[in-house]
Amino acid sequence: MNVSRPVRFVDGAAVRCHDVAMDDVVDFYRGPGQLVAAIDAALTGAGVDRDSLRPADLASVDEFHIRGRAATTEIAEALRLSPDSHVLDLGSGLGGPARTLAELTGCTVTGVDLTPDFVEVATALSEWTGLGDRTHFRVGDATATGLQDAAFDAAFTVHVAMNISDKPALYAEALRVLRPGGRFVAYDVLQGEGGDVRYPVPWADDASTSFLATPPEMRDLLAAAGFEVVAEVDSSDESLAWFREVRARVERDGPPPVSFGAFLGERFGQMAVNQVTNLAERRIRTVMFTCVRPG
Ligand SMILES: C[S@@+](CC[C@H](N)C(=O)[O-])C[C@H]1O[C@@H](n2cnc3c(N)ncnc32)[C@H](O)[C@@H]1O
Repeated sequence: MNVSRPVRFVDGAAVRCHDVAMDDVVDFYRGPGQLVAAIDAALTGAGVDRDSLRPADLASVDEFHIRGRAATTEIAEALRLSPDSHVLDLGSGLGGPARTLAELTGCTVTGVDLTPDFVEVATALSEWTGLGDRTHFRVGDATATGLQDAAFDAAFTVHVAMNISDKPALYAEALRVLRPGGRFVAYDVLQGEGGDVRYPVPWADDASTSFLATPPEMRDLLAAAGFEVVAEVDSSDESLAWFREVRARVERDGPPPVSFGAFLGERFGQMAVNQVTNLAERRIRTVMFTCVRPG
C-alpha cells in the first residue's frame, strides 16, 4: 500500500513530514525571534571586532553540540576532506560545523535544517565570517532533502537524530545523497544504560520530541541503511570533562558574549545541569560513527 506522508510548508517550500513532532521540534528551537539581530547586538555589545570575525569566535552559539568545535575538528579528520569536496550537513543548525569544516579544509558545505530561523542565522553568520561562498543553507527535512542522488563527496550529522523518530529514513537519505565510496559521520547523543533521560535537555523539553537510539541500535540502523561502519568512538568521558571545562572557564572569565541561551532562553541553565547529570549517570552517551558508502 502506498501511504502518502503529510506535507508542511516552510518558507513556501513543501516539506514532507515523517512524523507530526516536527512542528514541535521547530517550536522548541526557534526561540523568541529576531535571532540574527540578537546575536549581532550581543557581539557588538561585547566589543567583538566584526571585520576580523572568525568561526571560532562564534563557537559558543553556533557549535550547538557537546564538545563544540573540538568534536567538529574530529569530524573534519574522519571525513578526509579536500578543497574539492562537496559536503552535506544534515541538520546544520546555526551553521558552526559547516563553517569550521569549510575553514579547516577549504571544502564547500550545503546545510539542511528544519528550523527556518536557524537557516537565516546560519546564512548571516557565514556572510559575517567571509564564508558565504563556501557554506550554503536551506530549509528542509533531513529524512527527505529532495537533493540529487550521489551528489555529495561526504556527509555528516551532529546532534540531530535525537529529534528524529524515523531513523531508517534519515540514514537511508544520507546514503542516497552520498557518492559510492563517500564517507558519512554521525555524531549523536545516544541512550545510555543508566536510565531515562532527565528533561529538559538542549534538544527537547520532554520525551515527546526525543528519540534516542542505543549504541547497538545505531550499529544496526547504519548497517541496515547500507553503510559500512569503519569506526565507532564513545566520547562520553570527554563530554563530561568538556562540560566541567566550560563551567570552569565561565567562572574564571565570565559568560561568552553570546550562547545557546539566545534561543533556548532561561531554560538553558537547567538543561546544562541536566546534561551533566545525564552524562555522569550514563543516561546518555556521546558516540561518533564513521561510515563508508560501499563503492
Ligand atoms: C542540537 S541542534 C544541532 C545543530 C548543528 N548540527 C550543530 O551541531 O551545531 C539540532 C538541529 O537539528 C535540527 N533538526 C531537527 N530535526 C530535523 C529534521 N528532521 N531535519 C532537519 N533538521 C532537523 C534542528 O532544527 C536543530 O537545528
